[in-house]
Amino acid sequence: MAARVAAARAVAEALTLARPLEERLAADLSLRAGGLDPRDRALARSIATVALRRLGTIRKALARRMEKGMPKRGGALEWTLIVATAQILFLDTPDHAAVDLAVKATRADPASAPFAALANAVLRAIARDRDLILASSDPLDDDTPAWLAQRWRATYGESAARAIAAAHRSEPTFDISVKSDPSGWAARLGGIVLPTGSVRLDTHQAVAELEGYAAGEWWVQDAAAALPARLLQPRAGMRIVDLCAAPGGKAAELAAAGAEVTTVDRSAERLKLLAANFERLRLHSEIVVADALTFDTSPFDAVLLDAPCTATGTIRRHPDVGWIKRPGDLPPLVKLQAQLIDKAVALTRPGGAIVYCVCSLEPEEGEAQIAAVLRRNPDVRRLPIAADEIGGLAECVTPAGDLRTLPCHLWGDNPRRSGLDGFFAARLIKAG
Ligand SMILES: C[S@@+](CC[C@H](N)C(=O)[O-])C[C@H]1O[C@@H](n2cnc3c(N)ncnc32)[C@H](O)[C@@H]1O
Repeated sequence: MAARVAAARAVAEALTLARPLEERLAADLSLRAGGLDPRDRALARSIATVALRRLGTIRKALARRMEKGMPKRGGALEWTLIVATAQILFLDTPDHAAVDLAVKATRADPASAPFAALANAVLRAIARDRDLILASSDPLDDDTPAWLAQRWRATYGESAARAIAAAHRSEPTFDISVKSDPSGWAARLGGIVLPTGSVRLDTHQAVAELEGYAAGEWWVQDAAAALPARLLQPRAGMRIVDLCAAPGGKAAELAAAGAEVTTVDRSAERLKLLAANFERLRLHSEIVVADALTFDTSPFDAVLLDAPCTATGTIRRHPDVGWIKRPGDLPPLVKLQAQLIDKAVALTRPGGAIVYCVCSLEPEEGEAQIAAVLRRNPDVRRLPIAADEIGGLAECVTPAGDLRTLPCHLWGDNPRRSGLDGFFAARLIKAG
């Protein structure tokens, strides 16, 4: 019951307050009195995650079985029904348990108590019609927020937009970046080595319990996220600054290659995570808490800028993102990204390289940013990326020579071992 209530609250806060799921669940864990134990938290996470992953299907199923629509003054009824429907349709909770617990939760909340019989009838109907509901659910039209479905159709075309939405249905991949010996680690952990060099696992064991984690031999990072740092060709003695560095996945790629790394981020909290990660990995960087826009020092050989963005490329991993973000979030981010790109150029020595990247599928944050900097700064040119720098993944290189990975790329027979986070990266060179 505690996990289901927590899941309903997490879904409600994501959808009404734009509060990220992980933030809510972390708060639930830290509440000592009445807080969730780790098992309940894991259950709450899996219920809330699938509820948001399949929200459109769930809402459609509820709407079709509630003639008068969702009661206006039903208190937590809507969230209780969403979470119970997620369990009935997508998790192996027995139907009667999901229905009984939802009815109990409805009765326990004074505002929703008058609707207990309605909740019971609607959820039973959903359990009865499960096969029909699942067969008529469409990944793009139902489970993708309408504003994103419209954008992806316009940007990538109908068939790619459909493939992206279909990829979002699957449980996310679990990739690690290893310091060395990818095939040895793949064998030890039961994974495979991807063409890009990342190791892909399919275990559900806790990360910290896996061999090599405590010893600092590897870190968790999506295979696409591992690519941008590599485009700088980091090597011993090279001075590189990572301007938006925390929690440090990409900076670790740079440091592990022997570069002399400065890690800048405006979030002291997130830099603490970076420091802990670097300590475990026995890697070094100079850590600076600062707004990158006002950070000043002598120029670097190379700059990595993994800018703040809408993060629509990570929806498979974080299905709350699509519902939390709004079209209105784009313009301020686009403006900040452009300022950060100009700052990155200013911090690069003549002849040095800049890699700009975002985990977004939106062209305003990727391709258009690069087109704009090339227009406004004659000292900057693009150094195109070649497929053989990224394990031969030609489908991920644009005609202009930028990196564009889509969630449906690198797809195979086993969904758990398929796909990439959606990333954009471009490499620029400052005139010598
Ligand atoms: C996409 S995340 C970086 C992820 C990181 N590069 C990694 O691979 O683990 C963006 C980061 O930018 C930071 N950030 C946002 N605006 C900033 C600014 N003006 N100056 C410095 N850091 C900023 C955020 O705190 C956040 O940690």
